[in-house]
Amino acid sequence: MKAVRRLEELRAVRAALQDPLGLVPTMGALHDGHLSLVRRARAECANVAASIFVNPTQFGPHEDLRSYPRDLPADLAMLDSAGVDLVWTPEVEDIYPAGDQTWVTVEAVTRGLEGERRPGHFRGVATVVTKLLHAFEPQRAYFGQKDAQQAVVIQRMARDLLLPVEIVVCPTLREPDGLAMSSCNRYLSADERQSATVLYRALRAASAAFKAGERDAERLRRVMLDVLGSEPKARPHYVSVADAETLEELNGQVERALLSMAVAIGRTTLIDNMVVGRDQATGKEHLAANG
Ligand code: PAJ
Repeated sequence: MKAVRRLEELRAVRAALQDPLGLVPTMGALHDGHLSLVRRARAECANVAASIFVNPTQFGPHEDLRSYPRDLPADLAMLDSAGVDLVWTPEVEDIYPAGDQTWVTVEAVTRGLEGERRPGHFRGVATVVTKLLHAFEPQRAYFGQKDAQQAVVIQRMARDLLLPVEIVVCPTLREPDGLAMSSCNRYLSADERQSATVLYRALRAASAAFKAGERDAERLRRVMLDVLGSEPKARPHYVSVADAETLEELNGQVERALLSMAVAIGRTTLIDNMVVGRDQATGKEHLAANG
Protein backbone atom coordinates (compact mmCIF):
# COMPACT_ATOMS: atom_id res chain seq x y z
CA MET A 1 0.00 0.00 0.00
CA LYS A 2 1.26 3.44 -0.92
CA ALA A 3 0.39 6.31 1.47
CA VAL A 4 0.78 9.84 0.11
CA ARG A 5 0.09 13.36 1.34
CA ARG A 6 0.70 15.73 -1.58
CA LEU A 7 -1.79 15.99 -4.44
CA GLU A 8 0.99 15.68 -7.04
CA GLU A 9 2.15 12.39 -5.50
CA LEU A 10 -1.43 11.16 -5.40
CA ARG A 11 -1.95 11.90 -9.09
CA ALA A 12 1.33 10.17 -10.02
CA VAL A 13 0.57 6.98 -8.05
CA ARG A 14 -3.05 6.95 -9.21
CA ALA A 15 -1.99 7.20 -12.86
CA ALA A 16 -0.09 3.91 -12.49
CA LEU A 17 -3.12 2.06 -11.05
CA GLN A 18 -5.51 0.00 -13.12
CA ASP A 19 -9.12 0.84 -13.84
CA PRO A 20 -11.69 0.38 -12.54
CA LEU A 21 -10.48 2.15 -9.41
CA GLY A 22 -12.73 2.03 -6.35
CA LEU A 23 -12.51 4.88 -3.82
CA VAL A 24 -13.48 4.69 -0.14
CA PRO A 25 -13.51 8.19 1.45
CA THR A 26 -13.22 8.22 5.26
CA MET A 27 -12.43 10.49 8.20
CA GLY A 28 -10.30 7.79 9.86
CA ALA A 29 -10.83 6.21 13.30
CA LEU A 30 -11.62 3.17 11.20
CA HIS A 31 -13.76 0.21 12.20
CA ASP A 32 -15.16 -2.82 10.45
CA GLY A 33 -17.96 -0.72 8.88
CA HIS A 34 -15.34 1.23 6.93
CA LEU A 35 -13.51 -1.98 6.05
CA SER A 36 -16.72 -3.51 4.70
CA LEU A 37 -16.66 -0.75 2.05
CA VAL A 38 -13.05 -1.62 1.25
CA ARG A 39 -13.94 -5.32 0.91
CA ARG A 40 -16.81 -4.50 -1.45
CA ALA A 41 -14.52 -2.27 -3.53
CA ARG A 42 -11.87 -5.02 -3.61
CA ALA A 43 -14.42 -7.48 -4.93
CA GLU A 44 -15.61 -5.12 -7.68
CA CYS A 45 -12.54 -3.10 -8.74
CA ALA A 46 -9.03 -3.74 -10.12
CA ASN A 47 -7.51 -1.35 -7.56
CA VAL A 48 -8.76 0.25 -4.36
CA ALA A 49 -7.94 3.66 -2.93
CA ALA A 50 -8.98 5.30 0.33
CA SER A 51 -8.71 8.75 1.86
CA ILE A 52 -8.37 9.71 5.51
CA PHE A 53 -9.27 13.35 6.11
CA VAL A 54 -11.13 14.86 9.05
CA ASN A 55 -12.94 17.46 6.98
CA PRO A 56 -13.28 20.69 9.01
CA THR A 57 -15.99 22.21 6.79
CA GLN A 58 -18.55 19.54 7.67
CA PHE A 59 -18.33 20.28 11.41
CA GLY A 60 -20.62 22.95 12.87
CA PRO A 61 -19.41 25.71 15.23
CA HIS A 62 -20.73 23.73 18.20
CA GLU A 63 -19.33 20.38 17.08
CA ASP A 64 -15.89 19.52 18.29
CA LEU A 65 -13.59 19.05 15.34
CA ARG A 66 -10.57 18.85 17.63
CA SER A 67 -11.91 15.96 19.67
CA TYR A 68 -12.83 13.85 16.60
CA PRO A 69 -10.94 10.57 17.16
CA ARG A 70 -7.67 10.25 15.25
CA ASP A 71 -5.34 7.24 15.03
CA LEU A 72 -3.43 7.35 11.77
CA PRO A 73 -0.96 4.46 12.39
CA ALA A 74 -3.80 2.06 13.29
CA ASP A 75 -5.89 3.27 10.34
CA LEU A 76 -3.05 2.74 7.86
CA ALA A 77 -2.39 -0.77 9.22
CA MET A 78 -6.09 -1.66 8.84
CA LEU A 79 -6.30 -0.34 5.28
CA ASP A 80 -3.08 -2.12 4.35
CA SER A 81 -4.27 -5.48 5.62
CA ALA A 82 -7.67 -4.96 3.96
CA GLY A 83 -5.84 -4.74 0.62
CA VAL A 84 -5.99 -1.00 -0.16
CA ASP A 85 -3.47 0.00 -2.86
CA LEU A 86 -3.32 3.76 -2.31
CA VAL A 87 -4.28 6.01 0.59
CA TRP A 88 -4.32 9.81 0.61
CA THR A 89 -3.89 11.55 3.98
CA PRO A 90 -4.03 15.23 3.02
CA GLU A 91 -3.70 18.19 5.38
CA VAL A 92 -6.36 20.90 5.41
CA GLU A 93 -4.31 23.17 3.08
CA ASP A 94 -4.02 20.35 0.50
CA ILE A 95 -7.82 20.19 0.21
CA TYR A 96 -8.66 23.86 0.78
CA PRO A 97 -6.07 26.04 -1.01
CA ALA A 98 -5.44 29.45 0.59
CA GLY A 99 -8.08 31.94 -0.50
CA ASP A 100 -10.52 29.25 -1.68
CA GLN A 101 -14.08 30.40 -2.37
CA THR A 102 -15.77 27.50 -4.17
CA TRP A 103 -18.44 25.31 -2.61
CA VAL A 104 -20.79 22.58 -3.75
CA THR A 105 -24.31 22.93 -2.40
CA VAL A 106 -27.02 20.36 -2.96
CA GLU A 107 -30.48 21.78 -2.31
CA ALA A 108 -33.72 20.04 -1.31
CA VAL A 109 -32.29 16.71 -0.06
CA THR A 110 -29.98 18.52 2.37
CA ARG A 111 -32.74 20.53 4.08
CA GLY A 112 -34.28 18.02 6.51
CA LEU A 113 -32.97 15.43 8.97
CA GLU A 114 -29.20 15.84 9.52
CA GLY A 115 -29.18 18.97 7.35
CA GLU A 116 -31.60 20.68 9.71
CA ARG A 117 -29.81 19.49 12.83
CA ARG A 118 -26.36 20.35 11.40
CA PRO A 119 -26.61 23.48 9.18
CA GLY A 120 -23.80 23.62 6.62
CA HIS A 121 -22.81 19.98 7.20
CA PHE A 122 -23.76 18.72 3.74
CA ARG A 123 -22.13 21.69 2.00
CA GLY A 124 -18.89 20.54 3.63
CA VAL A 125 -19.51 16.89 2.69
CA ALA A 126 -20.51 17.63 -0.93
CA THR A 127 -17.52 19.94 -1.40
CA VAL A 128 -14.92 17.56 0.00
CA VAL A 129 -16.33 14.54 -1.84
CA THR A 130 -16.27 16.48 -5.13
CA LYS A 131 -12.60 17.33 -4.53
CA LEU A 132 -11.78 13.70 -3.64
CA LEU A 133 -13.52 12.46 -6.79
CA HIS A 134 -11.53 14.94 -8.91
CA ALA A 135 -8.26 14.03 -7.20
CA PHE A 136 -8.64 10.23 -7.54
CA GLU A 137 -10.81 9.98 -10.67
CA PRO A 138 -12.26 6.64 -9.51
CA GLN A 139 -14.81 4.73 -11.59
CA ARG A 140 -16.68 3.78 -8.41
CA ALA A 141 -16.94 5.38 -4.98
CA TYR A 142 -18.27 3.53 -1.92
CA PHE A 143 -20.45 4.96 0.85
CA GLY A 144 -22.35 3.44 3.77
CA GLN A 145 -26.13 3.26 4.19
CA LYS A 146 -25.35 4.09 7.85
CA ASP A 147 -25.28 7.74 6.72
CA ALA A 148 -28.40 7.43 4.57
CA GLN A 149 -28.87 11.14 3.86
CA GLN A 150 -25.19 11.54 2.96
CA ALA A 151 -25.55 8.69 0.44
CA VAL A 152 -28.63 10.34 -1.11
CA VAL A 153 -26.89 13.74 -1.26
CA ILE A 154 -23.80 12.30 -2.96
CA GLN A 155 -25.83 10.30 -5.48
CA ARG A 156 -27.84 13.43 -6.33
CA MET A 157 -24.68 15.52 -6.63
CA ALA A 158 -22.88 12.98 -8.85
CA ARG A 159 -25.88 12.89 -11.19
CA ASP A 160 -26.37 16.66 -11.20
CA LEU A 161 -22.69 17.45 -11.87
CA LEU A 162 -22.39 14.73 -14.56
CA LEU A 163 -19.54 13.13 -12.61
CA PRO A 164 -18.25 10.00 -14.39
CA VAL A 165 -18.45 7.82 -11.28
CA GLU A 166 -20.80 5.16 -9.97
CA ILE A 167 -21.83 5.76 -6.36
CA VAL A 168 -22.18 2.42 -4.55
CA VAL A 169 -24.12 2.34 -1.26
CA CYS A 170 -23.23 -0.55 1.07
CA PRO A 171 -25.24 -2.07 3.99
CA THR A 172 -24.82 -0.86 7.57
CA LEU A 173 -22.47 -3.05 9.59
CA ARG A 174 -23.69 -3.65 13.15
CA GLU A 175 -22.32 -4.96 16.43
CA PRO A 176 -23.81 -8.33 17.52
CA ASP A 177 -26.44 -6.48 19.63
CA GLY A 178 -27.53 -4.34 16.68
CA LEU A 179 -25.71 -1.07 17.41
CA ALA A 180 -24.52 0.40 14.10
CA MET A 181 -20.72 0.62 14.03
CA SER A 182 -19.53 4.22 14.28
CA SER A 183 -16.34 6.08 15.15
CA CYS A 184 -18.43 7.89 17.82
CA ASN A 185 -19.30 4.70 19.71
CA ARG A 186 -15.93 4.88 21.49
CA TYR A 187 -17.18 7.96 23.37
CA LEU A 188 -19.95 5.96 25.08
CA SER A 189 -19.49 4.90 28.71
CA ALA A 190 -20.31 1.24 29.51
CA ASP A 191 -23.83 2.26 30.63
CA GLU A 192 -24.38 4.44 27.59
CA ARG A 193 -23.14 1.67 25.32
CA GLN A 194 -25.93 -0.55 26.71
CA SER A 195 -28.53 2.19 26.21
CA ALA A 196 -27.32 2.83 22.66
CA THR A 197 -28.96 -0.37 21.40
CA VAL A 198 -32.28 1.49 21.73
CA LEU A 199 -31.89 3.02 18.25
CA TYR A 200 -31.79 -0.41 16.61
CA ARG A 201 -34.60 -1.66 18.86
CA ALA A 202 -36.77 1.31 17.82
CA LEU A 203 -36.06 0.75 14.12
CA ARG A 204 -36.74 -2.98 14.45
CA ALA A 205 -40.04 -2.30 16.22
CA ALA A 206 -41.20 0.06 13.44
CA SER A 207 -40.01 -2.31 10.73
CA ALA A 208 -41.86 -5.21 12.44
CA ALA A 209 -45.00 -3.04 12.66
CA PHE A 210 -44.65 -2.24 8.95
CA LYS A 211 -44.29 -5.93 8.08
CA ALA A 212 -47.38 -6.68 10.20
CA GLY A 213 -49.34 -4.22 8.05
CA GLU A 214 -48.94 -0.83 9.74
CA ARG A 215 -48.71 1.74 6.93
CA ASP A 216 -49.51 5.00 8.69
CA ALA A 217 -46.42 7.24 8.81
CA GLU A 218 -47.41 8.97 12.04
CA ARG A 219 -48.06 5.66 13.79
CA LEU A 220 -44.68 4.32 12.62
CA ARG A 221 -42.98 7.42 14.08
CA ARG A 222 -44.95 6.80 17.30
CA VAL A 223 -43.70 3.17 17.49
CA MET A 224 -40.09 4.43 17.32
CA LEU A 225 -40.67 7.24 19.85
CA ASP A 226 -42.30 4.81 22.31
CA VAL A 227 -39.28 2.49 22.24
CA LEU A 228 -36.90 5.46 22.59
CA GLY A 229 -39.07 6.73 25.47
CA SER A 230 -38.46 3.47 27.35
CA GLU A 231 -34.74 4.29 27.60
CA PRO A 232 -34.12 7.09 30.14
CA LYS A 233 -30.68 7.99 28.72
CA ALA A 234 -32.01 8.48 25.16
CA ARG A 235 -32.96 12.01 24.03
CA PRO A 236 -34.25 11.99 20.43
CA HIS A 237 -33.34 14.96 18.17
CA TYR A 238 -35.70 13.65 15.50
CA VAL A 239 -37.50 10.51 14.40
CA SER A 240 -38.45 10.40 10.74
CA VAL A 241 -40.46 8.42 8.21
CA ALA A 242 -39.40 9.90 4.89
CA ASP A 243 -39.40 9.18 1.18
CA ALA A 244 -36.20 7.14 0.62
CA GLU A 245 -35.25 9.14 -2.50
CA THR A 246 -36.46 12.72 -1.92
CA LEU A 247 -36.14 12.52 1.90
CA GLU A 248 -39.42 14.43 2.23
CA GLU A 249 -41.24 13.64 5.46
CA LEU A 250 -44.25 11.39 4.77
CA ASN A 251 -47.78 11.53 6.11
CA GLY A 252 -50.64 9.11 5.69
CA GLN A 253 -50.15 5.71 4.06
CA VAL A 254 -46.60 4.69 3.07
CA GLU A 255 -45.54 1.80 0.80
CA ARG A 256 -41.80 2.34 1.11
CA ALA A 257 -39.92 4.61 3.50
CA LEU A 258 -36.63 5.52 5.11
CA LEU A 259 -37.01 5.22 8.89
CA SER A 260 -34.31 7.32 10.53
CA MET A 261 -33.38 9.01 13.77
CA ALA A 262 -30.76 11.02 15.62
CA VAL A 263 -30.63 10.33 19.34
CA ALA A 264 -28.39 11.78 22.03
CA ILE A 265 -27.07 9.30 24.56
CA GLY A 266 -25.18 11.32 27.16
CA ARG A 267 -22.93 13.73 25.24
CA THR A 268 -22.84 11.62 22.06
CA THR A 269 -25.41 11.83 19.28
CA LEU A 270 -25.95 8.63 17.30
CA ILE A 271 -27.81 8.22 14.02
CA ASP A 272 -29.29 5.09 12.47
CA ASN A 273 -31.82 4.12 9.82
CA MET A 274 -33.62 1.30 8.03
CA VAL A 275 -35.54 1.16 4.76
CA VAL A 276 -38.93 -0.59 4.73
CA GLY A 277 -41.08 -1.59 1.78
CA ARG A 278 -40.53 -2.65 -1.77
CA ASP A 279 -37.77 -1.23 -3.95
CA GLN A 280 -39.61 0.14 -6.98
CA ALA A 281 -36.64 -0.51 -9.27
CA THR A 282 -36.07 -4.16 -8.37
CA GLY A 283 -39.46 -5.11 -6.87
CA LYS A 284 -37.54 -6.74 -4.01
CA GLU A 285 -38.37 -6.26 -0.38
CA HIS A 286 -35.71 -3.85 0.94
CA LEU A 287 -33.48 -5.83 3.25
CA ALA A 288 -29.95 -5.88 1.84
CA ALA A 289 -29.01 -2.28 2.63
CA ASN A 290 -30.40 -2.47 6.15
CA GLY A 291 -27.71 -4.75 7.49
P1 PAJ B 1 -16.81 8.50 8.02
O1 PAJ B 1 -17.78 8.81 9.11
O2 PAJ B 1 -15.41 8.15 8.38
O3 PAJ B 1 -17.42 7.32 7.18
C1 PAJ B 1 -16.79 6.89 6.00
C2 PAJ B 1 -17.74 5.95 5.26
O4 PAJ B 1 -17.98 4.79 6.05
C3 PAJ B 1 -19.10 6.62 5.00
O5 PAJ B 1 -19.53 6.31 3.68
C4 PAJ B 1 -19.98 5.96 6.04
O6 PAJ B 1 -21.36 5.90 5.68
C5 PAJ B 1 -19.38 4.56 6.10
N1 PAJ B 1 -19.74 3.89 7.36
C6 PAJ B 1 -19.62 4.38 8.63
N2 PAJ B 1 -20.11 3.49 9.52
C7 PAJ B 1 -20.55 2.43 8.80
C8 PAJ B 1 -21.20 1.18 9.15
N3 PAJ B 1 -21.46 0.86 10.40
N4 PAJ B 1 -21.52 0.33 8.15
C9 PAJ B 1 -21.26 0.65 6.86
N5 PAJ B 1 -20.67 1.81 6.47
C10 PAJ B 1 -20.31 2.68 7.43
O7 PAJ B 1 -18.87 9.74 6.24
C11 PAJ B 1 -17.78 10.30 6.35
O8 PAJ B 1 -16.72 9.74 7.02
C12 PAJ B 1 -17.50 11.66 5.74
O9 PAJ B 1 -18.67 12.42 5.73
C13 PAJ B 1 -16.90 11.58 4.30
C14 PAJ B 1 -17.86 10.90 3.32
C15 PAJ B 1 -15.56 10.83 4.33
C16 PAJ B 1 -16.63 13.03 3.80
O10 PAJ B 1 -15.79 13.72 4.66
